[in-house]
Parts: sequence; structure tokens; C-alpha cells
Amino acid sequence: MKSQVVVGTQWGDEGKGKIVDVLAEKADMIVRFQGGDNAGHTVVVNGKKHVLHLLPSGVLHEDAICIIGPGVVCNPFVLLEEMKTLEASGLSTDHIIISDRAQMLMPYHKYQDKLEEEASGNRIGTTQRGIGPCCADKYARTGIRFHEFINFETFKERLKECLTFKNKLFTKVYGADPMDYEEMVASFEKIHDLIVPRIKETTHMVNAAIDENKRVLFEGAQAAMLDINYGTYPFVTSSSPTAGGVTTGAGVAPSKIKTVVGVVKAYSTRVGEGPFVTELLDEQGDWIREHGFEYGATTGRPRRCGWLDLLVVKHANMMNGLTDIVITKIDVLTGLDTIKACVGYEIDGKVYDYIPSDQADVAKAKSVYKEFKGWTEDISKMSKYEELPQAAKDYLAFIEDFVGVRISMVSVGPDRVNNIYIH
Ligand code: GTP
Repeated sequence: MKSQVVVGTQWGDEGKGKIVDVLAEKADMIVRFQGGDNAGHTVVVNGKKHVLHLLPSGVLHEDAICIIGPGVVCNPFVLLEEMKTLEASGLSTDHIIISDRAQMLMPYHKYQDKLEEEASGNRIGTTQRGIGPCCADKYARTGIRFHEFINFETFKERLKECLTFKNKLFTKVYGADPMDYEEMVASFEKIHDLIVPRIKETTHMVNAAIDENKRVLFEGAQAAMLDINYGTYPFVTSSSPTAGGVTTGAGVAPSKIKTVVGVVKAYSTRVGEGPFVTELLDEQGDWIREHGFEYGATTGRPRRCGWLDLLVVKHANMMNGLTDIVITKIDVLTGLDTIKACVGYEIDGKVYDYIPSDQADVAKAKSVYKEFKGWTEDISKMSKYEELPQAAKDYLAFIEDFVGVRISMVSVGPDRVNNIYIH
């Protein structure tokens, strides 16, 4: 069995895009199993940089079938736009398939997201792409799935039903304007022929590929701390970006997953609201932001930066059952005298070695740090573990030991080739 899951272990932006690109090289199939166009991967196609939100980073490998899985909430307009971008770069998009069970993210979901965030004073700090409202409709069992789009007349009926309800919400609760049904029908009519040929039953396809010993790569978006159940609730995403999410989001049994690779950035960043115990609100944080270029891929928004939080990585391991860790962006730390990693939370005089569930407690936590010596050597061109400075090796060894998972690769630069393979 060659099925592999790649997940983020922190708050996203760990550099999963590059790692998936490297790991997907030999993949026969790449599957996204959760989330929607709230992801943000930076990928380089023929020397041109593109930011993808919905399509998996592995999409650049045209020989592999690329699946938007059943657990994804998919905005078909965004999908077409991203495909157009790839086609403009000379890439084929023939390998992209949408699960007929995937939820269709509708224009009214985006509108609802915006109204809800505005009304609550940006309570969660969502990306306002409609992901939360679409997931809420899914669980309220009022969502529209892609198989319902195939027959346009049936789709129109469903749209009318859903929009009538949503317009009551928009006008009566939020005092906003209603959305126009005919306009929406017309916009969907334009994309119908482009989308429908890509809608397929994917669950059998994925399971058959695994049974035939094909290499199937499941690409998680977001990360463990944004998990709806085990992340820093309520400052989380609306899905499970963990290995468990693969079973529900792609229709694959846990026993069919061979390896789970956790991507760990050598320090922490976070976008949006919510407690962040190792956050550095001083020049040290600014230094990391500048050196790591920690600005949102789409918005350009500065990311919150801090030291590596090993309780977070341990938590991610517990939920995901990681078989390997890949460390990214360790080159960014070059030049620091001292590097710190959090090994405990002190809350009201008690030290925790795990993350409490109540975010009010986490917000009070003081980080217990382990300090490491820094290094000054340029490690970005190194390709062998032996070449790394002892201080970097000590940092890596501690991470491996603390989390209890082997580090199989260390990424030392943004390029595909800037990697050190360890085992
Ligand atoms: P996520 O899927 O959310 O993790 O998105 P992403 O993988 O695209 O992360 P992000 O948008 O934050 O992009 C990471 C950036 O860091 C990209 O520009 C990568 O090229 C770059 N990058 C990835 N790995 C490394 C690394 O090891 N060192 C350095 N210096 N840059 C890296």
C-alpha cells in the first residue's frame, strides 16, 4: 500500500505547498479531502508564481489524477478561475475531477460569511470565502452537492428553494439586500458545460487506486490547530484537516492509510484571531516575519510570528498518528543567537504538557521554553544532514525526541531541490 497523507501540524502556512510538490512527484492520484478555497498555496509554474486556493498543490503534476474530494466545499467559479490560470501557463487541466458528493459553495455563502463577520465585528477573522456557511448548510442538510448540478432544471429548483430561505435571512436578520435569483441562474448556466464533465463518483476511484497499489497522496489544507474538534475552537476552520479527515472526506478506511507526514515549520505563525502562546510581539517577532517573509499569500497581511510550540506539534501527532515529520524553513532561523521552543504551558501556577480545551485557559498560558544555541552558517545550500551545524542538529534532535516522531526531511529553502533527506 502506498497511500500517503500530508498534513499541517500548526496553524497552516507551514510550507506544505512545496513539500506536497516534492512528494507528489511520483503520485498517481492527488486528493483534497477537506476545506475549500480558504487554503493558500504558493506554487511556481514555468518560472511564474501562482497562488492557488482550491486546487491542491499537487495539481502541477499533470500525469496524476487530481481529485476535489467529497469532503471539500467547492466554489465552481473559483475552480474555473484557477484552472484558467494554469492553462494560461501552458498546463493541462484535463486531470482535474470533482467528486459528485462534494458540496457546492454558492454565491450566497460568501455573502452570508461577509454579513456574519461584519455583524460580529470580525469575531473569527474568517477568509470570507463562504466556507463556514457552506459547511453549516452541509450539516443542516440543506447544502447542494455537485450531483445535483448535472441536471440544470433540478438545480434551478434547488437554488430557488435555498435562495428564498437565505434571502429571508439576509433581509430580515441582517437588514441587507436580497440576492437576485435570475442573475444567479444565469451565472451558473454559463459554467454548466465546463463543470459537469468533471463531476464523477470518486470514492470508488480512490479506493480502487489504493487496492491496485497506486500511489495516492491525500493533501490536507490548513492544519491541526485549525481542526474543528481539536483546534483552538472557536478560532478554527470548519473541517478536519487531520488524517481522520481523510477517512470521512475521501471515503477511505483508516486501515488504508500507509503513512502520515506532518509538516512542521521551524517556528510558529498564525493568521487571524485566537490565542497564540509563543507569539512574539517584539522585534524578535518582526525579525522572523521579515526573514521568513511571513505575509499572507493573497492578502499580504502580516502573519503573527513566534517560537516553535512543541505542545502544538505533540498535539498534532496525537491526532494524526504521524509516521514522519518534515521540518520547513529552518534556514530562516540562521543568524539568531538563541532559538527557543515551547515545552510546556504555565497556567495559574500549574505546568501543562498538553493543550487545554478552553481557550480562556490557553490565553492565560505562559510559555515554558527550552533554549538552543543558534548558528550563523548559510544552510540553504546544504543537502546532507552531516553538513548542518551542530546547533541546528541539536535543535532537530530535540524536536524529534520531544514529539517522538522521526524527521525524514528538512527543507532549507523554497526551491524543490533545497532539501536534506535524513533516513
Ligand atoms: P500551506 O499549504 O498553508 O502550508 O501554504 P504554503 O505551503 O504555500 O505556505 P505559504 O503560503 O506560507 O508559503 C510558504 C512559502 O515559504 C512559499 O513561498 C515557499 O516557497 C516558501 N518555503 C517553503 N519551504 C521553505 C523553506 O524551507 N525555506 C524557505 N526559506 N522558504 C520556504
